[in-house]
Amino acid sequence: MKILVTGGAGYIGSHVIRQLIAAGHEPIALDDLSTGKIERLGDTPLVQMDLASADAANQVVEAIKKYSIEGVIHLAARKSVGESVDRPEYYYQQNINSVTNLLVAMRETKVMNMVFSSSAATYGSPDVDQVNEDYLARPINPYGETKLVGEWMMADAAKAWGLKVVSLRYFNVAGAGFDDLADTAVANLIPIAFNAIKNNQPIQVFGTDWPTSDGSCVRDYIHVLDLADAHIAALDYLNEDNREHSIFNVGTGKGSSVLAVIDTIHKVIGKDFAVDLVARRPGDPASLSADVSRINETLGWTAKQTLKDIVSSHYRATSN
Ligand SMILES: NC(=O)c1ccc[n+]([C@@H]2O[C@H](COP(=O)([O-])OP(=O)(O)OC[C@H]3O[C@@H](n4cnc5c(N)ncnc54)[C@H](O)[C@@H]3O)[C@@H](O)[C@H]2O)c1
Repeated sequence: MKILVTGGAGYIGSHVIRQLIAAGHEPIALDDLSTGKIERLGDTPLVQMDLASADAANQVVEAIKKYSIEGVIHLAARKSVGESVDRPEYYYQQNINSVTNLLVAMRETKVMNMVFSSSAATYGSPDVDQVNEDYLARPINPYGETKLVGEWMMADAAKAWGLKVVSLRYFNVAGAGFDDLADTAVANLIPIAFNAIKNNQPIQVFGTDWPTSDGSCVRDYIHVLDLADAHIAALDYLNEDNREHSIFNVGTGKGSSVLAVIDTIHKVIGKDFAVDLVARRPGDPASLSADVSRINETLGWTAKQTLKDIVSSHYRATSN
């Protein structure tokens, strides 16, 4: 299938593109290259545009016609939680206008298949360690809110004009499936830790008195290549039949503590570095991992890669 991948020059989008090609699809990237990098795209065609701009719906209609697009994977978004707290209107303008423009263009051109990049940030700070998709979504920052609103818009389009759509709630995405596709943003624990080591600064651990096995926070780390494969499984699922809007967690189902991640980094790089144990950060849930029963059973997808695979692939790709 010819698939438009918005955010295709980004960290995750470029992995999705490689896996689409491997599965026999023909991806076309749409990206404004604000955080994306053109060199990640290789020979994949690029529609360079801001999906949130006033004329975006018309431009997407043109691109859909030009490339005979049959389905869309929508990853383009602003994703910094901290920035979203400082600039909520920018996050609404960017993330929600992008969804609106895309849906307008898809309805007009009758492109009916969509995979939407959502986030575990939709859950907010749940009072369970392992969360399933039926848990009440109560985001605690504007970024998570834009993802939840995006899911609602998908559900409304499914109801109104039959859009076939899957929303994937990613947990903590890390690692590299290819040495040229490293996560260059220093926003998640693993890149933050490697960056600290590179700059001879201590890795900060926020709280060692959480009610977890070693006292540090627990999160569910998913290898970016496993995540990319979940998009292929979602497309296959949409192709089979008439589908209602479905939401799936994408994680491993197993949490790893911050100290366990640091220990894995130590084993992978084989040298010592400084670790600073500091106070808890307000708003951090103690432990959050995905209940992955629904995606396992419905899409037949399971994460294959371990925490060590994630850490060593990130190390290899960023040392390159
Ligand atoms: N990285 C994670 O841990 C994580 C977790 C949950 C959800 N997500 C979601 O996954 C998606 C991809 O994230 P990523 O980590 O690859 O980030 P990224 O910043 O590397 O990729 C986002 C891409 O979208 C493009 N983009 C952003 N706004 C755009 C716009 N208005 N018009 C056109 N292009 C635009 C950027 O240039 C970039 O290439 C995002 O929707 C993000 O919210 C990421």
